Amino acid sequence: MTAEYQVHGDVAVITLANPPVNGLGLSTRQGIVDGLAKAEADAAVKAIVITGAGGAFSGGADIKEFGTDKSLQEPNLHSVINAVENAGKPVVAAIHSVCMGGGLELALGCHYRIAAPGCSVALPEVKLGILPGAGGTQRLPRVVGVEAALNMIVSGEPVKSEMIGAVPGQKLFDKMAASAESLAAEALAFAKSVADVRPLPLVRNLPCKHPEGDAYFQFARNMVKGMAKNFPAPAKCVDAVEAATKRKFADGLAFERELFINLMWTPESRALRHLFLAERAASKIPDVPSDTPKRDVQKVGVIGAGTMGGGISMNFLNAGIPVTILETKQEALDRGVATIRKNYEAQVKKGKLKQEKYEQRMALLSTTLSYDDLKDVDLVIEAVFEEMGVKEAVFKQLDAVAKPGAILASNTSTLDVDQIASFTKRPQDVVGMHFFSPANVMKLLEVVRGKATAKDVLATVMAIAKKIKKTAVVSGVCDGFIGNRMIERYSQQAGFLLDEGCTPQQVDKAIEKFGFAMGPFRMGDLAGNDIGWAIRKRRAVEQPDMKYSKTADLLCEMGRFGQKTGAGWYDYQAGKRDAIPSDVVNKMIEDHRKALGVTPRKVSDEEIVQRLVYALVNEGAKILEEGIASKSGDIDMVYLTGYGFPIHRGGPMHYASEVGLFNVVESMKRFAKNPLDDARAWTPAPLLAKLAAEGKAFQ
Ligand code: 3HC
Ligand code: NAI
Repeated sequence: MTAEYQVHGDVAVITLANPPVNGLGLSTRQGIVDGLAKAEADAAVKAIVITGAGGAFSGGADIKEFGTDKSLQEPNLHSVINAVENAGKPVVAAIHSVCMGGGLELALGCHYRIAAPGCSVALPEVKLGILPGAGGTQRLPRVVGVEAALNMIVSGEPVKSEMIGAVPGQKLFDKMAASAESLAAEALAFAKSVADVRPLPLVRNLPCKHPEGDAYFQFARNMVKGMAKNFPAPAKCVDAVEAATKRKFADGLAFERELFINLMWTPESRALRHLFLAERAASKIPDVPSDTPKRDVQKVGVIGAGTMGGGISMNFLNAGIPVTILETKQEALDRGVATIRKNYEAQVKKGKLKQEKYEQRMALLSTTLSYDDLKDVDLVIEAVFEEMGVKEAVFKQLDAVAKPGAILASNTSTLDVDQIASFTKRPQDVVGMHFFSPANVMKLLEVVRGKATAKDVLATVMAIAKKIKKTAVVSGVCDGFIGNRMIERYSQQAGFLLDEGCTPQQVDKAIEKFGFAMGPFRMGDLAGNDIGWAIRKRRAVEQPDMKYSKTADLLCEMGRFGQKTGAGWYDYQAGKRDAIPSDVVNKMIEDHRKALGVTPRKVSDEEIVQRLVYALVNEGAKILEEGIASKSGDIDMVYLTGYGFPIHRGGPMHYASEVGLFNVVESMKRFAKNPLDDARAWTPAPLLAKLAAEGKAFQ
């Protein structure tokens, strides 16, 4: 049982005890109902307190139980809340730390609520693609008002208990405790003080009205429509709260339940729930226990003040960690520091950063031309030119000066981290930290685990990633790691689509309609088409039989590297980023098609999307079976946080499982028959073929 029962004098205390956040799983729900029954049966008990053990009152329904039999078994959350409301003795919720979702709904079912300051109060269900399904949409408006409740429900954002407690007329909290420490004693005293008060107050009996009901809800609907185009839940939240103002309580509750169940079955909700769990799972490495001791990181060194070095440094400065940047020339240092200043100043101008904070951050930054100044840093990240010779020189120097135990990281995007580690006498301290550009903005950090990388180095880097607010995903060593290795297959398909009859804008439009932030050609123009060109030249030596469309090379031969040269797959006006279809490029593509002897065909948007996404999926499956990624959710996190994959689709691997792996493989077989495509690329990865044959999904 994950709820404890104790009696203190004439007050029974039911303590939710389901770590980490007292999720209301079956055993906890049963524990509450059993506790209530015991308290009711004990004549010596006059009042009941419900509270939570550890760092939460409750984080809500147990998300890990969703979709399992347990979530359906009685007592469900409705039955628990009914039992609380119908108790013959007053039930007081003693709320602290975290009171969210079903946890808040449980509290709203109690007769009284006492809250400690500093508690995060929220109905965050919308972030999981659902809405509060245990009375939250019906009860919250009755205690904080319709508008405040709708704001909380549609945004899912937490509000601090003391802020709610300070609002005149609010009925959510009957009392604010002086502190979290005094909550337990104050809750007992409060319960005693109301033990004989009858009738017992019920939130459901409070009125719920909005003075300009129809106009207000119309306004709310319009707001929500603009904000949440790919998600159905926010609009349903408005419907449910409107029902609270227009229907009888029981009818409103039934309506909310119906909406909740329908939303639970939507692909958008499945994607968001997958994302919630995958994000947390990504921070765990199967063979690195969570209690692995971590190295202390107080000072950081960054080598190279170019595009990446500057952005990487900002992450640490933002987190209050001092950074020393090393360069070969003073001019390069000056340029790098000026860019950092420019970025911060832009934030200050927009009101996103206070001048004082900006100055504090800059005061943490120092620069040097000498490796001697790196001898006491705890972590150093190299971001110099992408050439093995340059990396070798840097790591040899680092090995000579860095203190024992310092972590030596490389931001390389394509080079072999094991080879880089071999330039030192301490390969166990070497790791890849692959940031994405712009490094101060992008959430993704691929942590590249070399064959010698020590477990405590990995544990430290994962912890530091959290501190600098990155989503860290561990990748094994391979060319391109997880993200770039997969994107190559996607780019290969994008090129073939041009050869077969598409224009860049048609391809971009189709995949952007699917939900990608940017299609492959707009993305190429942003990142610089010359980067792929250099990689293809290298590949041409390593894999001479590689098949790809030559249009990208022809584009680069025209000097059209993208936005930085004012022209790429699209034309750009000076100082602007709008992609304008280019006649020159479209003619180049047509001429190339003629040279190949290809008669263009109309390719459907559906085929475009399938070929681009399934190309990612097949490579992802190979990455999974080779152990480069340890879970399919890690691959999804890479794509969701680093490559603009649509959130509501849940990442390529989750999306493929939603489509059905059997269907994915069937489409791949069809694409393999296309003579203009690369049949080898469509041979299903053995793992994909196996799961498809067994009717299973990626795990
Ligand atoms: N159920 C089960 N586990 C949960 C959970 C929940 N509701 N909320 C958090 N957890 C777990 C996480 O999975 C994680 O587990 P792990 O250590 O095994 O990975 C652990 O708690 C810690 O979570 P975080 O890493 O997110 O820790 P933080 O301290 O940063 O945040 C939190 C804690 C604010 C509670 C945050 O986890 C959160 O926002 N949780 C989601 C809460 C939520 O969405 N509740 C609504 C659930 S749906 C519902 O109640 C339906 C009802 O209306 C019928
Ligand atoms: P960049 O060319 O903008 O900057 C490199 C900097 O390193 C220059 O300022 C140069 O003066 C300095 N440098 C060169 N040799 C040095 C040495 N021996 N010691 C000290 N400084 C030296 O390059 P960028 O784009 O910042 O890339 C750096 C690394 O990050 C590369 O390994 C690259 O593959 C990787 N990377 C780049 C991404 C990008 O989008 N630009 C994304 C992810 C990784």
